[in-house]
Order: sequence, then C-alpha cells, then structure tokens
Amino acid sequence: MNSSTSLFSASALSGRVAFVAGGSRGINRAIARRYAAHGAAVFVVSRDQSKIDDTVAELRALGAKAEGAAADVRDFAAVEAAINQCADSLGPIDIVVSGAAGNFVAPAHTLSSNGFRTVVDIDLNGTFHVFRAAYPRLRKPGASLLAISATHALLPAEGQAHVCSAKAGIQMLTQVLALEWGKDGVRVNSLAPGPVDGTEGMARLTPDEASRAALYERIPLGRYASLDEIADLALFLSTSAAGYITGTTVVCDGGQSLTGHARYGLQPA
Ligand code: HXC
Repeated sequence: MNSSTSLFSASALSGRVAFVAGGSRGINRAIARRYAAHGAAVFVVSRDQSKIDDTVAELRALGAKAEGAAADVRDFAAVEAAINQCADSLGPIDIVVSGAAGNFVAPAHTLSSNGFRTVVDIDLNGTFHVFRAAYPRLRKPGASLLAISATHALLPAEGQAHVCSAKAGIQMLTQVLALEWGKDGVRVNSLAPGPVDGTEGMARLTPDEASRAALYERIPLGRYASLDEIADLALFLSTSAAGYITGTTVVCDGGQSLTGHARYGLQPA
C-alpha cells in the first residue's frame, strides 16, 4: 500500500513530531516515509551522516519538514543531544520509534562476550536510551513510543541467542514503561515483525534463494512481509486510532510464530 491508498488521510499526523532512531535504513526508513507522507515533521537518527542526509532529502521531497542527526544509540549522551535538537527545532515530540538494531548469525558456543553485549547494547540498552531521553521532551498526554523488535522476542532462534535475549528484554521494557508512563497519557508498544523483504536483517539471515525458500515453508502465508505492510502497522500504532493500545507486542509475521521455534535456513558456522 502506498500513501495514496492509505486508510489514513494525508494529514493524519499533521502538526505531529516524530523521532525515528535507526531511521535511515530498512524498516525504520519506511516508517519515517510513512509518517512524512501523513503530515508529520520527522527527525531521523543513525550512525551514518550520509545516509541521514539522503533520508532527510527523501522526506523533504514528500513535502515534510525533516531533519536528522548522527548518534549511536549505545551512547546515552548522544541520544539525549539528538532528542533535544529534535524538540528544540520541531517542538514537543509526539511519536518516538526506537528501531536501531544489530544482527549476525553466531551459535552461542562461538559467540564472544563482546558479540553478545554488542547486540544487547544496541537493541535493548539503545531502546532504553531513546525512550528515557525522549520522556522529558514528549507531548503529554498523547505521545506514542514504539520499539521495533522482532518475533525473536517470542520465538527462540538458532544462532540468535544475543538477538532473542535483547528482543525479549525490549518486550518487558515496553510493558514496564507502559505501566509507569500510562498515567501521563504516554503509550508504549513494540512491533514484532517476522521476515521482511528488503532489510539487512533478512539479507543476513537468509542470504540465498535456497535459505529463503526453506523459510517460506515455515510461514503459513508463504512469503515475507513488505516494508509497506510494516510501515502501515507502525502508522496505525502511532495514531489515535490505537489510542487504547499500550504495553503490547504487536506481531506481524504471516503466522510464522505458530510454527514453533524459528529457523532461518542458514546453518550457523
Ligand atoms: C560472530 C561477530 C560477528 C559475526 C560481529 N561480531 N560480527 N561475532 N559473528 N558475524 C562480534 C565481533 O567479533 C565483536 O566481538 C563484537 O561482535 C562487536 O563487533 P564490532 O564489529 O566491533 O561491532 P560494531 O562495529 O559496533 O558492529 C555491530 C554489529 C554490526 C552488530 C556487529 O555489524 C551490525 O549492526 N550489523 C547488522 C545490522 C543489521 O543487520 N541490522 C538489522 C537487524 S534486524 P569481539 O569479541 O571479537 O570483540 C534484526 C531483526 C531480524 O535483527 C528479524 C527477522 C525475523
């Protein structure tokens, strides 16, 4: 679905400010585009300034107010500076997406302590950093926080001990924050996609046609999600149409999680 066929009007997020961490690539960039196409001012953060510049240009071409800053979500001070830059420039923040993530396949017996810590640091600590830094600058009531997780939060997957642990932590973090911040009218959810086409994560998990075909066998709908399908769900969760949804992990996986533990068709080395 493109923005012209959206269930929401092109002004659904008019006057809203969205902060998207990890927003210069993949799922998060598609979400940033969706917000921009629906009238939001969008601030994107990633580690790569050239990708930020490219994304900001794309969002501006959609008619949106857009800015960005380079920051590593592992660095709380850098995240806080980016949040402050966003709020100072665009206004109180209505929507926060925490989507920066790291992934590689490594069986646990070969995974180094630093490898495990690196992914937990990016995915789980990074999500805490983004939400914690945003909290004082949110428009309350009404703000929506969304962590981009994965079915790894619910399904053990071989070669993914680090990612599954981080994503499970994100699920509990969003639940606790929903409990604590509900009184301020702040909603906190996570979105757990299964395999999504056109993402670096799936390029790593299923690098060839054979591994893709093997994974299709384990997905009742027999295909990957499109970036647009995930972006549309993020859009819904960020609008008042989802105003009574908080503390939830929304799974969008074509039924993959019905089929037991995850296998990505890639034999861990
Ligand atoms: C084993 C590895 C490794 C690999 C890195 N490490 N790659 N170990 N196999 N392939 C280890 C390193 O050896 C090192 O430990 C530690 O991890 C840190 O590596 P660095 O390269 O120094 O870290 P850094 O430069 O910060 O890179 C972080 C990264 C990065 C996570 C490794 O490459 C990255 O972010 N890549 C993936 C990006 C990505 O795919 N994002 C989308 C995720 S989506 P030692 O002990 O040697 O010091 C997703 C959801 C999928 O995950 C959903 C599917 C359903």
